[in-house]
Amino acid sequence: MTESALASFSFGRPAGPDLNSPNPARISDYLLNGKDNFECDRRAVTELLRAAPELSSLARAGRDFLMRSAGLLAAEHGIDQFIDLGAGLPASPCTHEVVREHGPCRVSYVDHDPVVSVHNRALLTGRPGVWVFEGDLRSPELLIARLSATEAVDFSRPVAVLLGDVLPYLPEPAQTVRAFRNVMTAGSALVLSHLSRDRADPGMVASVENTYACTGGRLSIRTDAQIAELFTGFAHAPEIVDVRPDPDVPGLTGYTGIGWRVRGGQARAATAAPTTGQRENASAT
Ligand SMILES: C[S@@+](CC[C@H](N)C(=O)[O-])C[C@H]1O[C@@H](n2cnc3c(N)ncnc32)[C@H](O)[C@@H]1O
Repeated sequence: MTESALASFSFGRPAGPDLNSPNPARISDYLLNGKDNFECDRRAVTELLRAAPELSSLARAGRDFLMRSAGLLAAEHGIDQFIDLGAGLPASPCTHEVVREHGPCRVSYVDHDPVVSVHNRALLTGRPGVWVFEGDLRSPELLIARLSATEAVDFSRPVAVLLGDVLPYLPEPAQTVRAFRNVMTAGSALVLSHLSRDRADPGMVASVENTYACTGGRLSIRTDAQIAELFTGFAHAPEIVDVRPDPDVPGLTGYTGIGWRVRGGQARAATAAPTTGQRENASAT
């Protein structure tokens, strides 16, 4: 497979950008100390942090987990193709910067926000092994078909699918994860981070979810059990990210994990990410 310069595709495109209303990608950018945001986004973040001050540390921790996992999969598990779903605005380091330190990995960035696509195309044009797709995770089969039709992804080989803090925006996250799981071969990995409501006050959760409603979308902060359910069909070892200064004070936490597809396509119990050898030899139970 030859290295490819950036290719761009548009499908499942939502309505055009509205620069006067906050949106999830720019809110996330501001939470991560980025510069690609507007006054309306900063106002929304101020309101969010009033309800849940831990949100900015959680955004950073989720992002760090994603990049750490991507690096680990490239460096120690030989995965050389990555699909970053709900990639967001470029935050340094980006997935391709992390994984291409370990070899000529192919990285596909996918987001449904046209503003994100414009930024990513402007920044990534001409980079080898990098693709930008504009697509909606609520239509996963369409997305998978488009990815498969290019050199970006070969689903007959192990692939890493990254879902960094995007599933809270999907009403049916299991449908999206299942569609990808069905085309992920043994040795593939799912990397996921999701806000959890289990240790938070219900009123505060409602307040955060309601504030996000100003983006025109819906945010769902789920329970640990609901998030764990998303790993059905994967072997995974979850980690709770708790940045609360006082664990006795209720607050939002994060739920992160790497899920592995094992031979036979079924899950098996795992306490840690297996080594390449373990993964290849693993038999489904
Ligand atoms: C909180 S940001 C996360 C960005 C990045 N993954 C990270 O971990 O830093 C969520 C991203 O998901 C994108 N998103 C939300 N709903 C989506 C959908 N239905 N399809 C594709 N992308 C979506 C948003 O546009 C936004 O860029």
